[in-house]
Amino acid sequence: MQEFYANTDQRALIDAARAARLLSYSPYSHFQVGAAVLTGAGKIYTGCNIESASYSPTNCAERTAIFKAVSEGERDFAAIAIVGAKEGGPLTFCPPCGVCRQVIREFCSPETFVILLSQEDYLTRSYTLEELLPEGFGPDNLA
Ligand code: THU
Repeated sequence: MQEFYANTDQRALIDAARAARLLSYSPYSHFQVGAAVLTGAGKIYTGCNIESASYSPTNCAERTAIFKAVSEGERDFAAIAIVGAKEGGPLTFCPPCGVCRQVIREFCSPETFVILLSQEDYLTRSYTLEELLPEGFGPDNLA
């Protein structure tokens, strides 16, 4: 893990996640999350968390972003920025849940894919997928 204040390029991805978070549909938890995934070609896809009255169908922001991108034909990803906070509160580090880590594993190289968690003041923690999902089960295990 590395911790730093985001540079201009990183802020562009973080700001896309911040904008996506404003569209969060989270009337039950009141916890709003935004994510922005960067493709290898430099395109950004965004997502927010979307909750359900029956709770379990809730989709996290990270999966919304990745599923949007994959459904548009993308398979090559370099990084994701994630921001989260209670409604009306400041952004705090919001690590991806286990299910989202597994979905990221499906499409991203554990050694090189970068996960950026960013606070209100752009203090940012950077991880590789390998750090957040060590020894993960992936497509290679089925080969
Ligand atoms: N949430 C995300 O969107 N991403 C995460 O990685 C953690 C949790 C959402 C799901 C739910 O809508 C709310 O945050 C509270 O768990």
